[in-house]
Amino acid sequence: MKKNVRKAIIAGNWKMNKTRPEAKALLTELAPMVADVKDVEVIACVPFTNLETAIEATKGTNIKIGAQNCHFEKSGAFTGEISADMLVEMGVEYVVLGHSERRQYFGETDETVNKRTKAALAAGLKPIVCVGELLWERECDITEEVIARQIKLDFYSLTSEDIKKCVIAYEPVWAIGTGKTATAEQAQEVCAFIRGCLAKQYGEDTAEAVTIQYGGSMNAGNAAELVSKVDVDGGLIGGASLKAPDFTAIVKAAENG
Ligand code: 13P
Repeated sequence: MKKNVRKAIIAGNWKMNKTRPEAKALLTELAPMVADVKDVEVIACVPFTNLETAIEATKGTNIKIGAQNCHFEKSGAFTGEISADMLVEMGVEYVVLGHSERRQYFGETDETVNKRTKAALAAGLKPIVCVGELLWERECDITEEVIARQIKLDFYSLTSEDIKKCVIAYEPVWAIGTGKTATAEQAQEVCAFIRGCLAKQYGEDTAEAVTIQYGGSMNAGNAAELVSKVDVDGGLIGGASLKAPDFTAIVKAAENG
């Protein structure tokens, strides 16, 4: 309904892929391909080890750089963790939080996603917070309950101003890396439901201002239909973000969507 008030965001989530030379090569190939894109925010969320290389390689381009996690404490005895301030100091702008792979393999909970989101916002990062249901949960017809719970818990105690700085990625877990994309109707249905949850909590105007992406086997072939939906404001892309032509095709689809 108010899609025109939101800028579409296409973000690549590289996950645990690419060495530094590979990262540099991919971003150097991608930059000229998306140079003329104005109406879509283009982001690459790269592994921690690639952040400096990625920031350097995208200087003067319209590609923004994101990380794939951050800790909620400012510093201290948290071996293996990276703080939000450390990312900001490097020039990182976005951070993916609560990805289902972190929830599934690394013990991430709604409570820690909430803490990380608040820490990221306090440091000046823009969080891309992932929510989504398991196949089993969809089959049991509790998708809306699962999503409503995640939205409530992950954004607990955030103000309207805070939530407007967040991007929400709806990623049905059964669609991630499986080649099984949600239909555009399924994506729209849940993205609209998320917006409805935000409207209840923060009011219509705030809800309309929040970018809600779809993620899960999004590719050059299905992106146009997904982003044509009124509540689908872009995508969080895994596999297809690792090849510059494929990722560019998705960005262009969002530009026309
Ligand atoms: P795929 O695009 O590889 O399915 O991954 C989606 C995803 O998890 C993005 O965060």
